[in-house]
Amino acid sequence: MQKIVVDKIEEQKNDLSKKFNKAKQKLYIETYGCQMNVADSELVVSILNKEGFAYTENIEDADLILINTCSIRENAEKRIFNRLEQLKHLKKKNKSMLIGIIGCMAERLKEKLLEEEKLVDIVVGPDAYRDLPKLVKSAESGQQAINVLLSREETYAEISPIRLDKNGVSAYVSIMRGCDNMCAYCVVPFTRGRERSRDPKSILNEVNELIEQNYKEVTLLGQNVDKYNWNSGEVNFANLLEMTAKLNSKLRVRFSTSYPQDMTDEVIKTIAKFGNICNYIHLPVQSGSTRILDLMKRGYTRDWYMNRISTIKKYIPDCAISSDFITGFCTETEEDHKDTLSIMEWVGFDYAYMFKYSERPNTYAAKKLEDDIPEEIKSRRLNEIIELQHQLSLESNKKDIGKTFEVLVEGVSKKSENRLYGRSPQYKIVVFERKNYNIGDFVNVKVTDCTSATLKGESI
Ligand code: 5AD
Ligand code: SF4
Repeated sequence: MQKIVVDKIEEQKNDLSKKFNKAKQKLYIETYGCQMNVADSELVVSILNKEGFAYTENIEDADLILINTCSIRENAEKRIFNRLEQLKHLKKKNKSMLIGIIGCMAERLKEKLLEEEKLVDIVVGPDAYRDLPKLVKSAESGQQAINVLLSREETYAEISPIRLDKNGVSAYVSIMRGCDNMCAYCVVPFTRGRERSRDPKSILNEVNELIEQNYKEVTLLGQNVDKYNWNSGEVNFANLLEMTAKLNSKLRVRFSTSYPQDMTDEVIKTIAKFGNICNYIHLPVQSGSTRILDLMKRGYTRDWYMNRISTIKKYIPDCAISSDFITGFCTETEEDHKDTLSIMEWVGFDYAYMFKYSERPNTYAAKKLEDDIPEEIKSRRLNEIIELQHQLSLESNKKDIGKTFEVLVEGVSKKSENRLYGRSPQYKIVVFERKNYNIGDFVNVKVTDCTSATLKGESI
């Protein structure tokens, strides 16, 4: 008996050393911004691991610290500059420690980061991660290390990410990169380059690997998944969703982000057809005013958006819908703002991410439009939409009381050891009594109570 246990431990050790083969130096990575960045960090860990870097969760142990950054709003960048300030003391203690800025801020600021931030040794944009091992070597020998070339082809298709999630239940799978939409306010087309889709075979292989590793849920990721297009129409997003869902009927399939202009009825019908594609769509509207949508170059009107919602509700009556909003975009009037409030009420969003407009250098809006809404008005309007969304989320959750949902358990509640939390297919957090359930179980939970943020219930 004892022998078997020891063997098991040896086996695990071997597995780990295989995972981090030849590992000598230690890599710590910190991720900001969107889910795409989370997925990219897992790619980066994988790329560097092959070159002898072990991943560490302890920053003090690191020989190399990478910060995977976001440029979406000015505040996102400010946060990262503050973080760099905090890292100064680490570098003082360990002079040979290297610090790299990767991701969107690296792409946007390029050499400036090396010139102005003495702390930074390495700068790598989102399409140049394969070059990281070489750049780290250059930095080790004291040379400037930068690669911010964007690519039309790179999808890192065959690289198996090393998963950094804690629970082993839910994983991100990147299906495309870049964005061609060119919304007037958005920095992403400049930081992530042109849109390109990943080979469906490599996507399905990655999902199969996850199934083998006992993952229960995958989220297919892209800036605009509705534009997924392999081999000039051979595989579109609806086809990819269907192929993924068919791999295993127990696997939950999610996706993000959808785009109102491009979301087809075929996609909506595919979600409706497969029980394991979750009934939840994140469909950013940004504004309820057609005039503002036009200025934002979103390519759709208020009516078009409402039509998408009606079609979703027709085919998937219990579909949860969330959205993104930007408040105080150039020239936004009280009338436009009221249009945003009214579309929120009309849809009855289950959840929303809400932001004040932040002008980003080099975008169409920065070049051609004036950021003319005063800060106090932006703040007041933002507070109004936050307040309304709070009510809408609460209303939506109250409607769930008495209903039963299948919950995929993600972890133990922070507030109580005796409670577990997980998500319903609609992506709502559900908390319930632990009993004998484990992380990764599917549990039917009857909702008995709620707040605007959480459903509470009993397993049945
Ligand atoms: N200012 C404020 N919010 C922005 N977003 C994108 N660009 C900006 C900007 N310049 C928001 C949008 C997008 C989300 C990811 O971030 O709502 O959907
Ligand atoms: Fe931030 Fe957008 Fe880059 Fe994601 S793609 S990290 S949200 S700027």
